[in-house]
This record gives sequence, C-alpha cells and structure tokens, in this order.
Amino acid sequence: MKNGFDDMSKNKPSRTACKVALAIVALGAKPASQNILLPGIVQATEAMLVASGAVFSRVVRWHRSSFTLSIYEAFDWMLPGEFKALAHRKAFCEQQVRYSIGKGATQALVLGAGYDTMGWRLAPEFPSVNFFEIDQPATMYQKIQGVEALGTRKNLFLIQEDLGKKSLKETLMSNQSWDINAKSVIVAEGLLMYLTANAVEGLFRQCAEITGSGSRFVFSYIPSSSDGKLDVGRWTGLMLWLQKAMREPWIWSIRPDELETFLKNLGWTSLIASEEINKRHGVEFFALGQKID
Ligand SMILES: C[S@@+](CC[C@H](N)C(=O)[O-])C[C@H]1O[C@@H](n2cnc3c(N)ncnc32)[C@H](O)[C@@H]1O
Repeated sequence: MKNGFDDMSKNKPSRTACKVALAIVALGAKPASQNILLPGIVQATEAMLVASGAVFSRVVRWHRSSFTLSIYEAFDWMLPGEFKALAHRKAFCEQQVRYSIGKGATQALVLGAGYDTMGWRLAPEFPSVNFFEIDQPATMYQKIQGVEALGTRKNLFLIQEDLGKKSLKETLMSNQSWDINAKSVIVAEGLLMYLTANAVEGLFRQCAEITGSGSRFVFSYIPSSSDGKLDVGRWTGLMLWLQKAMREPWIWSIRPDELETFLKNLGWTSLIASEEINKRHGVEFFALGQKID
C-alpha cells in the first residue's frame, strides 16, 4: 500500500465498476426507473460495456431481461433501495456537473470513472469544457478501447493512473490540458469507500489545490454509525466480507454530521441542503462541496 490507497486488484479491470454499469442496464428494463434514468444513459452504458470488452453482448442482453430484473429486485432485501439508488446517484452527479458548467466551469474531472458514460455523452454537448477521467490502468485501458470504438471526443481525456501510486496533483499537473486556475467540477461517485482515510483527505486537499475559484466537488459516501464504524444496515458484516472477497473492500466511511467539519478542514464548504444531510440512497449518502476561496 502506498499513499494510503488500499490494494484493490489493480492489474484487473474493476469488477465493481462493471457491476454498477450492468445495474444501469438492468434498471433500463424497469418501467418505474424511467423517470430517474438520464436520457441516453442506458444505451450508452450498454454500448460502452460491450465496445470496451468488459462484457459480451449476451451479458448485456441478459441484463435487459425481466428475469434478471427480478434477481436484482430480490437482492434489494439485503440493501434496501440500493438498486434504484444507482440511477439516482448518476442523476445527482450529472445534474451537479451540468449546474457547474452553467455557472462557468470549464473542466469536469471524474475520479474512479469506471464505465461511466457522462464524460463521453456530455463532451460533444459542451465543446468548450474539457472532460477528464481517471481510473486504474486495467479499467481505463478497457474504457479507452470502448471510447475508441464508439467515437473519440477531442475534449475528453482518459487517464490511466493508479492514484495509489501517483498523486492526483502530479497526475494532472503532468497533463498539459489541465488548467490549475480553471473553475472545475469534480466527481467521485462510488469511489471514496474504497480508499483509506489518508487517501480521501489527500484527494480533497489536492483537488482544492489544482482547481480555480468556485470549483465544486460532487461525491457519494457510505455513512458511519455513532461508533464510527462503516454502516450499511443489518447486513454490514456480510457486505464487508463480500467486498473483500471481490478484492475491492469497503474501507472509508464518515458520520453525516461530521462531514461539514471534515470538508472545511480540507478546503471545502459543504453545500448539501439540510433535508439531504440524513437522506440515505441505498447504502450511500450524496454530498456536494464548494472550494473555499
Ligand atoms: C464502484 S466503481 C465506480 C465506478 C464509477 N464511478 C461509477 O459509479 O459508475 C469504483 C471505481 O474506482 C476505481 N478506483 C478504485 N481505486 C482506485 C485508485 N487507486 N486509482 C484509480 N481508480 C481507482 C475502480 O477501478 C473503479 O472503477
């Protein structure tokens, strides 16, 4: 372990990234999810998964079936609301990115992007915004194959980097297109729970150092209970074991009532409305910070 990041199975593409993308495909078959799913997200995700070589097209077809949907729904007893929450999470992050762009952000950075299609979909819509994505080499290698097959975008930069080996600041400073003074919006969706406390703190600190005034940080996190331990409900022990078995263990969590102070110490003001502060979406909470200028 280096830089405080845990040892995920780094030379293999992320299984959890594939899981999230397949869940979006499966949600596409659920009539009740249509009002949450972003326009075009299901088709783009299906195409990205297949073109990148992450899964065969038959796996995508299987995830579109009502049988698979019933399996996903059956598993919701374990983590209530988690399946649908992934669509909410994607919608929340993209709404925040669109809002920031509307307010003048010219850079969007997605950390631990996996097979997420936001950058690929939004890059042509916002040609004056530069989109950056970072993920571990094996996962990003596949994503690059996918983007090359589906159509590259001149303002989408895909970076293969293990942030446990090279700091975010170093990674972006060595990319000539990254502008340290630009108003930016950063997304860390379904990522922070895989990092150690040191790594999470370092990430927020470095993001404040490499972005311009008015920049925002959109993220999701798993809450801790009052004893400070990661808490996803009744099946926490089993989930921790399963994540570990997949070699992508959940490590970091924080109490929602501690988030504001935590962010403030790292250079960010929490912007989450009070009614959202204690709102769980599946196993996670959603959050938003603005850089303290
Ligand atoms: C649960 S997946 C989420 C993927 C994507 N954000 C989404 O929600 O669709 C977590 C992602 O974080 C990436 N990740 C974890 N540790 C990382 C590290 N040290 N450096 C770069 N990426 C990392 C994984 O490879 C994986 O793609």
